[in-house]
Amino acid sequence: MKILLCIFIILQSVMVIFSYMTFTNLKCGTKDIRFTNFEKCYIKAVNRTHKYIDLHANLYQLPVDNVTVRVKLMRLDHGYKPFFVDITIDGCRFLKHQGNPILKLLYNTYKNSTNLNHTCPVNHDIIVDHLWTGNVDSDIMKHIPIMNGDYALYSEWSVYNIVRAFVNFYVKITPGRN
Ligand SMILES: *[C@@H]1O[C@H](CO)[C@@H](O)[C@H](O)[C@H]1NC(C)=O
Ligand SMILES: *[C@@H]1O[C@H](CO)[C@@H](O)[C@H](O)[C@H]1NC(C)=O
Ligand SMILES: *[C@@H]1O[C@H](CO)[C@@H](O)[C@H](O)[C@H]1NC(C)=O
Ligand SMILES: *[C@@H]1O[C@H](CO)[C@@H](O)[C@H](O)[C@H]1NC(C)=O
Repeated sequence: MKILLCIFIILQSVMVIFSYMTFTNLKCGTKDIRFTNFEKCYIKAVNRTHKYIDLHANLYQLPVDNVTVRVKLMRLDHGYKPFFVDITIDGCRFLKHQGNPILKLLYNTYKNSTNLNHTCPVNHDIIVDHLWTGNVDSDIMKHIPIMNGDYALYSEWSVYNIVRAFVNFYVKITPGRN
């Protein structure tokens, strides 16, 4: 996690600040149909400025108490290419203790909109209900300046080290709010 922080600090010092981030797409998929299936996975725009994320993953093998999430930042440049960040997070440890300010901020931003708001084990489907991306946009971007462009955050979810699902977030970073 120290490396992640260093990367952000370096980006912050060399790149022109600042920008506006908007979610452009969300893709989810199962890699193990006996383990999980996505009932919902979309971003809905209610008007020009407000969007929310809804996600519902059915889990078929409960309880879940061993989760690793690999997160890769990708940047669009003739296809999505890896862009500095490639980290693996212990999901249960994250739920117990976020451990660094960026993860803490992320958790606080989404935790009111999900039932994944407690420590392991997880004994139910995972639901994200109306996570308004306006909050995510403003809170995260205050801390993570980054150059303009199209990015994706690929996340790959494993349970007992077997990949079960992916959730990919697509965002566009532009100089202003227009
Ligand atoms: C967009 O929708 C949100 C949520 O319903 C509302 O609070 C906001 O005022 C709307 N904005 C515009 C520009 O209509
Ligand atoms: C989440 O809910 C708590 C308690 O209702 C509130 O204090 C906090 O501001 C909310 N956080 C967000 C990001 O909406
Ligand atoms: C977690 O989310 C569920 C469902 O939204 C809610 O009923 C519960 O009170 C929340 N628990 C905590 C600790 O915030
Ligand atoms: C999760 O399961 C994998 C595979 O069995 C194991 O190597 C790993 O140590 C487990 N992680 C935790 C935090 O228990």
